[in-house]
Amino acid sequence: MSSKLAATLIPGDGIGPEVTEAALRVVDAAGVEIAWDRVEAGAEVVAKFGTPVPEAVLNSIRAHGVALKGPITTPVGEGFRSANVTLRQALDLYACVRPVRSQPGIQTRYEGVDLVVVRENTEGLYSGLEHRVAPGVVESLKVVTEAACLRIARYAFELARNTGRRTVTAVHKANIMKMSDGLFLECAGRVARDYRDIEYDEIIIDNCAMQLVRNPERFDVLLLENLYGDIISDLCAGLVGGLGVVPGMNMGEGCAVFEAVHGSAPDIAGRGIANPTAVILSSAELVRHLGRDTAASRIEDAVSAALRDPACRTRDLGGEADLATYTDAVIARLG
Ligand code: NAI
Ligand code: MG
Repeated sequence: MSSKLAATLIPGDGIGPEVTEAALRVVDAAGVEIAWDRVEAGAEVVAKFGTPVPEAVLNSIRAHGVALKGPITTPVGEGFRSANVTLRQALDLYACVRPVRSQPGIQTRYEGVDLVVVRENTEGLYSGLEHRVAPGVVESLKVVTEAACLRIARYAFELARNTGRRTVTAVHKANIMKMSDGLFLECAGRVARDYRDIEYDEIIIDNCAMQLVRNPERFDVLLLENLYGDIISDLCAGLVGGLGVVPGMNMGEGCAVFEAVHGSAPDIAGRGIANPTAVILSSAELVRHLGRDTAASRIEDAVSAALRDPACRTRDLGGEADLATYTDAVIARLG
């Protein structure tokens, strides 16, 4: 277990540098020694390189195969293309996976939420194909390919099978978008036939949103195209304590980028009060991906233990602890 591990670190901006630093402290304290290759992406590097994701960033991730990433701010309505979307498309990180679990230490309206959001990460309305047809008329193209639909559906079913889950639910709006969501649904149904051990069902997105806030315990693996997956991820985070606690990973064939669901939270950036749980749990997933299962579970257990103590909770969870106090509490509970 002493072989040296290496990974890329993208601190990001806003609360990114604070929360990723906290995660690095926890990983280190858990005895997992990783040589971090620190690279910058986002607004700061656009002026220098003309892109928010310079080739050096992509090459670092390609070389190491894994990265921990802080959130990156994206200008609204104008300016450079999202660094996040660029990264996911450039590295073909086609599966965005977000485990959403109730934590005993966090009081919410629900108990026993334990679901996984599996979001297609490369196409749909995030293909970036928008143009002005005439003054006052704009088109945005939703691109859906059979290959991408089959691949994300297969990912969801494999994940279900490998993690002992029972049901995959495809979320769609194929009643309206009969061709694009229709293709997504048709592919999901086709893949389902290869996984007879896993139940498969389908739900229209608006009904899904309602069912999620009424009875989230009934859901297991949710399979969604890009935009629906983005929106439903934040909704699901709200079920278990908010954006501060839900981890995520962007998975491709050769690379995996681990990051929280949340963004750069400019409203609280630089004040040392952000909740680093989501990034710490993302780093635990990274550690597991690198084959250090025991250390990953230790980090997750330490997070759960810290959250059970009201004195350790950060403000977003109704507590008063700052980021450093909470991170120290997690480290102190590493068994
Ligand atoms: P956001 O997720 O940054 O913040 C939404 C709300 O949740 C804010 O009130 C914020 O303070 C709170 N929050 C988020 N993370 C938190 C944490 N760890 N601890 C405590 N409170 C937390 O979403 P918003 O404001 O819509 O987006 C801000 C920027 O982040 C935008 O530029 C957006 O494009 C970018 N973004 C980047 C993502 C990424 O890099 N993967 C993902 C989502 C948004
Ligand atoms: Mg999002």
